[in-house]
Amino acid sequence: MKTAILYYTFGGATKAEAERLSKELGASLYRVYEKHNRSFLGSFIPGCPHAMKRKASKIKPLGVDLSAFDRIVIGCPIWAGYPAPAFNAIVELLPEGKDVELFFCSGGGEQQDEAGTIALAKTRGCKVTACRELRTEKKPSKLKGKR
Ligand SMILES: Cc1cc2nc3c(=O)[nH]c(=O)nc-3n(C[C@H](O)[C@H](O)[C@H](O)COP(=O)(O)O)c2cc1C
Repeated sequence: MKTAILYYTFGGATKAEAERLSKELGASLYRVYEKHNRSFLGSFIPGCPHAMKRKASKIKPLGVDLSAFDRIVIGCPIWAGYPAPAFNAIVELLPEGKDVELFFCSGGGEQQDEAGTIALAKTRGCKVTACRELRTEKKPSKLKGKR
């Protein structure tokens, strides 16, 4: 099965998991970059409210034909309980009819409304075959004690 892994990372944890997975699956690996460089503050404001509203950020063109793959794996960090805004932009790239697997890296908190996240990929006409969460335990200091 020809597999592509698309991931967004801010701090590197999602990158590490995506790289591990690409070796395990023999998959092609594509890092997604946002068009505007995000500062640490920008990950909180406006990053967190945008994540909670499932707003897509602007991303740089991937330069790959995703229709050539059978399975697409998407990896993303969790911000304020929801996938970081780049996830919503990645979902918009999904060609119809693909098998999609999702993985999310979080500091230890639960993802809110996981069913809603899965439903987003389904709106693209894709079948979500797996959705898993990885606890990286790297909580940003500003969120400590709030979760
Ligand atoms: C802006 C921001 C918000 C976050 N919100 C949460 C959260 O709500 N719950 C949680 O468990 N972790 C939260 N985290 C921690 C990240 O999800 C976690 O460290 C993740 O592994 C980061 O992945 P990355 O290194 O690929 O960016 C947040 C991190 C950032 C920067």
